[in-house]
Amino acid sequence: MNGKHLKQTLILSGLIFILFFCETGWTLEKCQICHSKKDIHRTEETGRKIPLFVDESILGKSVHSERECTDCHADIVEIPHKKPKKVNCKRCHYEGNPVGAPEGQLYDQFEHSVHGMAVMSGNDKAPVCQDCHGNHDVIIHTDSTSKMYWQNIPKTCGSCHIEIYATYKESVHGVAVANGVKDSPVCSGCHGEHNIRSPKEDDSRVSQMRISQTCSECHGEKGVVSKYGIKTDRSATFEHSFHGVAQQMGNRTVANCASCHGYHDVRKEDDPKSSINPANIKETCGSADCHPTATAEFASGQIHINPKSEESGILYYISKFFLILTVSTLIGLFIFILMDLFRRAKTARQKRHGK
Ligand code: HEC
Ligand code: HEC
Ligand code: HEC
Ligand code: HEC
Ligand code: HEC
Ligand code: HEC
Ligand code: HEC
Ligand code: HEC
Repeated sequence: MNGKHLKQTLILSGLIFILFFCETGWTLEKCQICHSKKDIHRTEETGRKIPLFVDESILGKSVHSERECTDCHADIVEIPHKKPKKVNCKRCHYEGNPVGAPEGQLYDQFEHSVHGMAVMSGNDKAPVCQDCHGNHDVIIHTDSTSKMYWQNIPKTCGSCHIEIYATYKESVHGVAVANGVKDSPVCSGCHGEHNIRSPKEDDSRVSQMRISQTCSECHGEKGVVSKYGIKTDRSATFEHSFHGVAQQMGNRTVANCASCHGYHDVRKEDDPKSSINPANIKETCGSADCHPTATAEFASGQIHINPKSEESGILYYISKFFLILTVSTLIGLFIFILMDLFRRAKTARQKRHGK
């Protein structure tokens, strides 16, 4: 390569370099010629004004601060521009993406979720990524102002599931979350995140077949609730109960945790509105598909019975009695056998010597 050629190549690559930077630097400025105006808006057919002002500082504080406008609004290629399509977050958030966007099977899971399938079938009320995570304001989920900060998740889901949110907020779990108890479940604690399924599907975390297992993640043997003075034998006592055994045998109509406790409105036993409050328990057991003829006496029996605990009253003593009876019978039998053997040995010896 001679000197002239080298010079030309250098100039050319320099030009490309400059052009590249101008191009990327321009897009934001280009957009902001119009979208930085506070009063820019579009008018809907109904006459409603939709503001189109873009506050750059919000984007600047987001996880996407390094992204250009057209990285997301990729279909805007000329100015003035046509109405762009809805942003597709999957442009970057897919497995093996080159920009370092958090990935995994997020999108695949979402596509098979109740929301993803609803979007696919044309339900425009069902959420896509930005409806849960935000538009220009996606911030790291550990920040307390993020829509995905654990304490804010119920409100984020609740923006669409309004009534459920209102019920949940007053439940023992909702109140605990508001008070900062991180171990108490938010919506995703029971439903999952990108894999939310309809409760009608058996493999949903909240289906009739699986809900007891989901509650037991926290209320079971190794569950977190022991920290809060709540007994962790609730799941074991349920499994050993008639209801638990019937469920393991595949009976769908039998009671699970949620049939007695509810799910969005779980409350403490001493709460007058609780389904397990002594004043309401007859009604809970007696619901039409369970025990329609239940009497107050029928329902007054303890449900989570653990015969190993003294609190179980007569059952505890009966179980103790049988334990003592069994052990003493065994010891008695053992002594009897020993004595019998000894006697047989003695007679045998006497026979040999005595003759
Ligand atoms: C010449 C001014 C102008 C420029 C430059 C401009 N826009 Fe717009 N933009 C508008 C107007 C006006 C509308 C509303 C159009 C309508 O009424 O539907 C709009 C609408 C939009 C919308 C749709 C909002 C909605 O909800 O309907 C997006 C997104 C958007 N612009 C992004 C951009 C991006 C990204 C750029 C830079 C690449 C850009 N715009 C550059 C004027 C501009
Ligand atoms: C991380 C992706 C991302 C980036 C980067 C981004 N936007 Fe957006 N923008 C969105 C999403 C998501 C929406 C909501 C509408 C949608 O879902 O398409 C939106 C909405 C808008 C709207 C409609 C008004 C509003 O606020 O809802 C305008 C105008 C707009 N963007 C302009 C811009 C401009 C100008 C830039 C660069 C300064 C930019 N956007 C950068 C994702 C992005
Ligand atoms: C129904 C609401 C919902 C939708 C729709 C949704 N997500 Fe999420 N996403 C969540 C929840 C809840 C979490 C877990 C937050 C936590 O507890 O850390 C999460 C976590 C994430 C994370 C991990 C970082 C974080 O904020 O915790 C990323 C990245 C993410 N989602 C991207 C996406 C993408 C991309 C899409 C679209 C394919 C999407 N999400 C759709 C609710 C949603
Ligand atoms: C142009 C590529 C690109 C697009 C498009 C994009 N993202 Fe991202 N996203 C990234 C990158 C890169 C990161 C990692 C940023 C970091 O860690 O500094 C990220 C991070 C995230 C996080 C992680 C926040 C956390 O808590 O760790 C979420 C959530 C997220 N994006 C959601 C979205 C949503 C919602 C959209 C659509 C509106 C979207 N992204 C579109 C590139 C993109
Ligand atoms: C943008 C609104 C929106 C947001 C945000 C949203 N959802 Fe939904 N959700 C819907 C719609 C609409 C459906 C109905 C889909 C269908 O069955 O056609 C649905 C369905 C569901 C279902 C199944 C209901 C059934 O009877 O089959 C569950 C469970 C659910 N959402 C939980 C959640 C949780 C948990 C969150 C937060 C992480 C959330 N949703 C966030 C709109 C939303
Ligand atoms: C303690 C666990 C738990 C928590 C927390 C929880 N759910 Fe549920 N959710 C369930 C169960 C169990 C069902 C299924 C009940 C059934 O068999 O129909 C359900 C059902 C649903 C449904 C389907 C419609 C219905 O009412 O049956 C939606 C939508 C839903 N939940 C959204 C939410 C939202 C939004 C939040 C947060 C505000 C939330 N859930 C919190 C356990 C929970
Ligand atoms: C993510 C863990 C988690 C899940 C899942 C969970 N819980 Fe809880 N639960 C807790 C915590 C933590 C508390 C204590 C809250 C407090 O501080 O008052 C609690 C409290 C309770 C209480 C009140 C106990 C009392 O008398 O103080 C009942 C009843 C209960 N849960 C039932 C359920 C049922 C039924 C389900 C399933 C539908 C369920 N929980 C799912 C963590 C969980
Ligand atoms: C047949 C109805 C029924 C079923 C099924 C049931 N419970 Fe209960 N649960 C009750 C009643 C009644 C009480 C209050 C009296 C008692 O402690 O036995 C109670 C009490 C509780 C308490 C409060 C204990 C405390 O320390 O204050 C928790 C937590 C609990 N149940 C969790 C569960 C979980 C988790 C499941 C499923 C694995 C479940 N329950 C299944 C009826 C039921």
